[in-house]
Amino acid sequence: MSERNPPAPPESWTAETLAVRYDQVRDYTEWLAAPLSPEDQTVQSMPDVSPTKWHRAHVTWFFETFVLGPNEPGFAPYRHRYPFLFNSYYEGVGPRHPRAERGHLSRPGVHEVGDYRANVDERMRALIDRVDEGTLDKLAPVIELGFHHEQQHQELLLMDIKHVLSRNPLRPVYAGLPVPSAPPGPARWIDVEGGLVPVGHDGAGFGFDFDNEAPRHRVWLEPYRLADRLVTNGQWLEFMADGGYDRPDLWLSDGWAHVHEQDWRAPLYWSETAGVWVEHTLHGTWPVDPALPVCHISHYEADAFASWAGKRLPTEAEWEHGMTLHGADATAADATDRDSAPWHPRAARGIADGRLHQGFDTCWQWTASAYLGYPGFRPAAGAIGEYNGKFMSGQMVLRGGSALTPPGHVRPTYRNFFPPGARWALSGVRLADGGAPARVAGALR
Ligand SMILES: [Fe+2]
Repeated sequence: MSERNPPAPPESWTAETLAVRYDQVRDYTEWLAAPLSPEDQTVQSMPDVSPTKWHRAHVTWFFETFVLGPNEPGFAPYRHRYPFLFNSYYEGVGPRHPRAERGHLSRPGVHEVGDYRANVDERMRALIDRVDEGTLDKLAPVIELGFHHEQQHQELLLMDIKHVLSRNPLRPVYAGLPVPSAPPGPARWIDVEGGLVPVGHDGAGFGFDFDNEAPRHRVWLEPYRLADRLVTNGQWLEFMADGGYDRPDLWLSDGWAHVHEQDWRAPLYWSETAGVWVEHTLHGTWPVDPALPVCHISHYEADAFASWAGKRLPTEAEWEHGMTLHGADATAADATDRDSAPWHPRAARGIADGRLHQGFDTCWQWTASAYLGYPGFRPAAGAIGEYNGKFMSGQMVLRGGSALTPPGHVRPTYRNFFPPGARWALSGVRLADGGAPARVAGALR
């Protein structure tokens, strides 16, 4: 495959379109892994990170377990012990290898993982080809969940290999070069009226949604404002120069504890060399570009920055409603080959057209909202119901999408989530003002 982005899925599934889409999604994973050596694909640089070859095998296990398992006559797993190695967190499916020890798996090697993928691909194609129309209607939603699951892992694969390569003093390059950027100018505010607004996926028409995006429901919003672009590295340097990481009045209590426990002085991939801040990216390590959006910051840092700026983070309902009304179209990645594709967020283009920019193709945006079920939410029955619902504790919602998100995998209702101290996702900040409560630095409380 020579293109970075698979085309969009069709309007409805037939055996033929399902098979075509299956190949597109599976090929894209292999295309992402292609520049990585067997050694690159084996390292686990921290417990949150999974080796590339584990991602390649785990997404295969997902199709094998949830599609082939219940539907293939005489089903048996490709290798008896692989489900133990490649089950991620599905308690209902059985025991599994500890997450933090995935880097110990020198075997199976990358080529054996390739054989596993090829075997499951062949069986999936055969299954799709031979089922009758009624069975296909039943299977298509699970197979489509497998597509979206694999797309989520495509972004994780890139997040994870970035961390792996960042731990190597040689600072290897994944692909490409940074793109020169002009300063985008100050953010402008977009006013949103608010009121009683709908939030969540309506389930109408064609379009995949995860169960955590439903049911659609109503939320009351006071009038508010959203910044039309994301906070930049230049603004973050001002925050740092103003003692942002040294002022407890800016920080949530848990965040201040993280600053000290983890010695946070700057975003995750920044380091200072001879008085110059540099940033590790998938393009290699480069001086911090003030025009680019800041990324790889925790929820705690995003919240502290907002307090320093006298603003706040948007709630997820504000983000979704504002983006639905005023979002500029997601600018899909404008390059298709590996060396010119944007593997790092790009600068805002400095236009002031009254719309919200950098919604889906730049950085995931932290919100002030805890990750909880919507009113009436019920996870699906069985192990597949473990996909989203069981993580609704101790995590914060991020909205949008990032430069690493596969195009076609974003929508205004999409709910990403991470613990508030996590920094290895491509996460950034869009400020809000008015409406909901804000914590203003120095206020008595
Ligand atoms: Fe997974």
